[in-house]
Amino acid sequence: MDAKRRAARWWHGATLYQVYIRSWLDTNGDGYGDLPGVMAKLDYLAWLDVDGIWLSPTMPSPDDDWGYDVSDYLGVHPELGTLDDLDRLVAEAAKRNMKVLLDLVPNHTSTAHPWFVEAVSGRDSAHRSYYVWADPAPGGGPPTNWLDATGHSAWAFDEASGQYYLHNFLASQADLNWWEPAVHEEFREILRFWFDRGIAGFRIDVAQGLYKDAELRDDPPSATPDRLHSRFGLEQLYSANRPESHSVFRDWRKITESYSPQRLLLGETWVSEPDRMAAFHGQGDELQLTFNFPFIFADFTAPALAGIVAETLAALPAGECPVWTASNHDISRFPSRWGGGDERKARLALLVLATLPGTFVLYYGDEIAMTDVDVPPALRRDRITSSGLGGDGRDRARTPMHWDASPTAGFTAEGVPPWLPYGDNASRNVAAQRDDPASVLRLCRDLIALRARAFGGRIASYRELPGPPGLWTYRVDDLLIAANFTGEPVTLDVPIGSVLLSTAGATTEGVLDRGTLAPWTGVIARHQPKDAD
Ligand code: NOJ
Repeated sequence: MDAKRRAARWWHGATLYQVYIRSWLDTNGDGYGDLPGVMAKLDYLAWLDVDGIWLSPTMPSPDDDWGYDVSDYLGVHPELGTLDDLDRLVAEAAKRNMKVLLDLVPNHTSTAHPWFVEAVSGRDSAHRSYYVWADPAPGGGPPTNWLDATGHSAWAFDEASGQYYLHNFLASQADLNWWEPAVHEEFREILRFWFDRGIAGFRIDVAQGLYKDAELRDDPPSATPDRLHSRFGLEQLYSANRPESHSVFRDWRKITESYSPQRLLLGETWVSEPDRMAAFHGQGDELQLTFNFPFIFADFTAPALAGIVAETLAALPAGECPVWTASNHDISRFPSRWGGGDERKARLALLVLATLPGTFVLYYGDEIAMTDVDVPPALRRDRITSSGLGGDGRDRARTPMHWDASPTAGFTAEGVPPWLPYGDNASRNVAAQRDDPASVLRLCRDLIALRARAFGGRIASYRELPGPPGLWTYRVDDLLIAANFTGEPVTLDVPIGSVLLSTAGATTEGVLDRGTLAPWTGVIARHQPKDAD
C-alpha cells in the first residue's frame, strides 16, 4: 500500500473480500470451515492483494440461520474457533496490510440469547422491552399483516403472556425493539468491545430494518412484487425502512470515528432504489459504505448496469464512496445469475466491477468464476429458503470453496462429508488457475492490481461515453473502459490507445481486432485526452 492510499480512507478504490467462513477451509475435520482455516489462507488473500476481508458471522449462535441468529454478541462461535483465534487473525491480517470487518446483526437476536430468554419469562421481565411485543389483533390473530422471510406471519404467539413477538426472519430470530434506549446502549458497548480488539469495522446486517412502525400499521401491497421491491407481495413500509433508524447510524458513526476515521461501517442496505440506499450515508455522517442491491439485481445488459451506476453516483452525497459487488451468500452467484456459466460473461463482469469508482467487493469464489451448485433438497441447509413458501435457495451460493481438483476440493480432510456439496471443482479451482496466466483468477488478480495502481486511495471520477447499442464505454480517471455486452462483435467508435488489460488478461488476442470488440469481452485502455475530451 503506497503513501497516497494511506492518506485517504483505506476503502477508497480498494478491494474487499467476503469470506463465508463455513465454506472456506475446514481445519478440524468437522466438515465446516473455521477461523484457523481463514488464517491458513491469509497468504492467498494477500497474493490476491485484497485490502480487507468481511467475515460472515463469527458470534455464538444456534445456527438456525448460520450465525445470523446471535446468542452472544461478545464471543466467538466455538465451532469456528476462539476469541484468541479471532485476535490472531486480525493481527496476522494486519501484517499483510489487510483489515478485518465483522458481521454485526442488530435487527434481531436468537431466541436463545439471554435477553430473549429473560424477556419471555413474563410481561414484567427486565428485558421484555428489548423485543417487539404486541397484543393480538382485535378479532384475534397476529397484530399486523407483516410477513417473515419465509412468507409466513412475522408474529409468533407466546402462550404464557398472551402476546405476540415479532420476527422478520425465522421465529427463532426475534426482532429487537429499537424504540428501547437500553438496546442502543447495549449495541454501543458491543461496537466498542470489538473496536477495542482492533476490528476495522462492521458489515451491518439488515441495516434498513432496525426500527419498526410505532403504530404497527399493516404493510401495503407492493406495486412491484419481486424480491428486491417486496416481501412476498408486501412492501416493507412499516415492518422495516423506518426513518428513525438513521439516528442509530449517526450515533454509531460517532463511536466509529472516535476510534479513527479509518474505521468503517458497511451497511447491508437491502432497498430497491439508489436514492434510498444513498440515504444511509446521511450527510456523510452515517454509514460510509452501502451495498447496492439495485445494481446486484439489475439485468446483465449495458443499459441496465450503466443506468444504475449513473443513478447511484447521482444519488450519493458528494464525497461518498459507492460499492460494487455482484454476489453474496444470499443470492445466486453472478457467474451463474449474470453469466449462465459462460466464463466470458464472468470475466466481463469482473472487468466492469473492478473498474467502477469506489469499493469493489468480491464474494469468495468470484475470482475463479465459481458458479451456483445445484444442491438437492435433501442436502439443503438453509432453513429460511427451504422451509418457506418459496424464494430462491441460498445454499447454492454457499458451497465449499474450490481450492483444488481433489475429491474434497482442498476444503477438508479426505472422508469428511462437507456441510454442503462441492459441485464441479474440476477446473474452476484455485490450484488449476493460479499458475495459468490465462485463467479468471489471474485476470481478477491483475484487475485488483490495476485498480490499486490507477485509483487506489481515491474515489475516481466516472463518465459514461456515448457508444453503439450493447457497448458500455466509460472513463474512470485516466482509464477508458469498453465492454461489449452482446453476443455479436461491436465496432468501437472511440479510439482505443494502449490496452492495459482485457478480459483475456495481458493480451487482446480474441478480444480486440482493429477496433472491433469480440462478443462478451472488454478492454481497459489508457485514456487519450485529445480523443475523448
Ligand atoms: C441478511 C443476511 O445476509 C442473511 O443471510 C440473513 O438470513 C438475514 N440478513 C437475517 O439476518
